[in-house]
Amino acid sequence: MTRVFSGIQPTGNVHLGNVLGALLRWVDDQHTADSLYCVVDLHALTIPQDPVELRESTLRLAQTLLAVGLDPEVCTLFVQSQVHEHAELAWIMQCTASYGELSRMTQFKDKSDKAGFVSGGLFTYPALMAADILLYDTDLVPVGDDQRQHVELARDVAERFNSRYGDTFVVPKATFPTAGARVMDLQDPTSKMSKSADSAAGTILLLDEPKVIEKKIKRAVTDMDAEVRYDVAAKPGVSNLLSILGAVTGRTPEEAAVGYTQYGPLKADTAAAVVERLAPIQARYAELAADPGETQRLLGVGAAKATELASATLARAKDHLGLLPRA
Ligand code: AMP
Ligand code: TRP
Repeated sequence: MTRVFSGIQPTGNVHLGNVLGALLRWVDDQHTADSLYCVVDLHALTIPQDPVELRESTLRLAQTLLAVGLDPEVCTLFVQSQVHEHAELAWIMQCTASYGELSRMTQFKDKSDKAGFVSGGLFTYPALMAADILLYDTDLVPVGDDQRQHVELARDVAERFNSRYGDTFVVPKATFPTAGARVMDLQDPTSKMSKSADSAAGTILLLDEPKVIEKKIKRAVTDMDAEVRYDVAAKPGVSNLLSILGAVTGRTPEEAAVGYTQYGPLKADTAAAVVERLAPIQARYAELAADPGETQRLLGVGAAKATELASATLARAKDHLGLLPRA
């Protein structure tokens, strides 16, 4: 069976782009592949975090993933720091990746330009990500386009390690969502909806109340020609609404456009469809949030399952490297 692994950082609030572009795909994949999903709290440490906030957002993100539909009976859902093999293999990966390779990562350049404090971990972050992936003999890594270079690095270090020390790691491949799965900012439809968007009005959060969702969609930027048609280049705002409407109702954007001649009804129906799609997720989230102990129990089960796989891979890597085992 194909092994799938992906990770998400417990920073910022989950928004509609995360749900449509990534999380619903994770939910589908869990039924067709042997899947592991990881809340990567160690990656969050590359930027200084408030301890109380980090602990809370880790739990909240796990609850969000469960609410969206990840089923701990079907997939393995866990928190990165609860499986210490990640940190240990990350060191080995740091010693397998070259300084030059890490220096070429565009995300490091972007983030270090903006950060006040640039940690060593921000630079070696892709080595930890490679460890995450390689620990589980992963075949496929579903990620956003911005992670393409990091998965490429994981492939390169896996191949280098295998050729230096003998067959140890499965060489993984990234998979990317289809173009329609890209949700754009409602206020600036040429850039993607993101946690860090300057305009809160352009981002629909998973836990936004129906009234807030309606307001944000009603105020979404469109254009002057008042024709409903899917054409990303000429009509980015309208096309974004159509791809959202299509995605939440299981249709293509072109199919979603049929029957609309005005923006008003398109916006009203899109808002109603988003509210309806998110309602059961929000309800499930509220249940989970009322019982944090149960989420922590489920994460413990996930960490135990993950540890079993990770410890075997790490032991293999250490053996091939020539690290002396404890007697
Ligand atoms: P991020 O929020 O950037 O950490 O991304 C977490 C996951 O959600 C990644 O797989 C991203 O590709 C996906 N994602 C983030 N923003 C969007 C968006 N606007 N549209 C579609 N997918 C997104
Ligand atoms: N770096 C990824 C991001 O910021 C998250 C991540 C960490 C990840 N480890 C991973 C994604 C392993 C896929 C596989 O989005």
